[in-house]
Amino acid sequence: MPVITCIDDLKRLYKRRVPRMFYDYAESGSYTEQTFRDNTSDFAALRLRQKVAVDLSGRSTESTMVGEKVAMPVALAPVGLTGMQSADGEIKAARAAAAFGIPFTLSTMSICSIEDVAAHSPTPFWFQVYTLKDEDFMRRLFDRARAANCSAIVITVDLQILGQRHKDLKNGLSAPPKLTPSSIANMMTKIPWGLEMLGTKRRFFGNIVGHAKGVTDPSSLSSWTAEAFDMTLDWNRIAKFKEMWGGKVILKGIMDAEDAKAALSVGADAIIVSNHGGRQLDGALSSIRALPGIVDAVVDKVEVWLDSGIRSGQDVLKALALGAKGTMIGRSYIYGLGAMGEAGVTKALEVIRKELDISMALCGERKVTALGRHNLLIPKGFEGEWVA
Ligand code: GLV
Repeated sequence: MPVITCIDDLKRLYKRRVPRMFYDYAESGSYTEQTFRDNTSDFAALRLRQKVAVDLSGRSTESTMVGEKVAMPVALAPVGLTGMQSADGEIKAARAAAAFGIPFTLSTMSICSIEDVAAHSPTPFWFQVYTLKDEDFMRRLFDRARAANCSAIVITVDLQILGQRHKDLKNGLSAPPKLTPSSIANMMTKIPWGLEMLGTKRRFFGNIVGHAKGVTDPSSLSSWTAEAFDMTLDWNRIAKFKEMWGGKVILKGIMDAEDAKAALSVGADAIIVSNHGGRQLDGALSSIRALPGIVDAVVDKVEVWLDSGIRSGQDVLKALALGAKGTMIGRSYIYGLGAMGEAGVTKALEVIRKELDISMALCGERKVTALGRHNLLIPKGFEGEWVA
């Protein structure tokens, strides 16, 4: 087994092990991928302020996210088709997160169903909700999440319509994969992945198949979103979902200060600054650049988290120092999952925690909860001088 020292090592293994169709699905942004690239390169533009001769004993990465204790303020983001990256992927990720002491978020577009993950996860998880036209389906979805003991829901507000990812169309992305000469040829080079996949029954969208009506091709993400998602979604409907659920609600996909205030007014318990990993509006700002303006707009009234672009503990540190109370990682753990299953997710989390702890120490801090802008060197104009 190669020595794994960083998230990029896991990505290399992942690329070798998983069929092209699913690697491309995770690794793409929409259209020109400008925002997808900016999400990581803008993290690199921030620098950390080194401080020396500080007592570094008794350090802690512990914090809370929506009142839940976390071993570090990093939650696993909802990622569609996770069970195609590795057989039973959502169950593996949920278990790794539970053992590590951080939250796992199950996507509506998961392969393993809510019930299945609940039966195999030792702790409650969060459930991510897409907003569908079908009111009945939505009610049942909330009932199912409640029955599964989910401790919060994460409503994704930036995907009423799907941003185009060219490779998914070219690859004919579907779950399970459609058998074409090129997908078969590629899968023939991914034998360990294929054998594991043959050993599980979980190969369909578990929350959808058998639950949603009027979908022509339930194996296709793009036809499902086009047919079932609510084009008329507004803040009133989001407020109704909050009422329907009756518990903690986290809104994911806020990139604008006015939207952040609206999220506050519908009673969000946390908002996630996210551009969906650069997969939706190509040309949007990177999440890390959008963060300070949103933190300033809702100061202390609601928890603000950051998602999109985190590939290291230094990135987590930068987000926290810029005012995020928590973060989410998607690709960083998917690389680990695809590379090595549950142990790979654990490895990704260990890598990130160690990087966070050591970098925090070198910044002269002992607690992640004490990080702030004083730890950063922010280039002039980082937030941009954009004219609205
Ligand atoms: C779905 O959430 C996607 O980004 O593919």
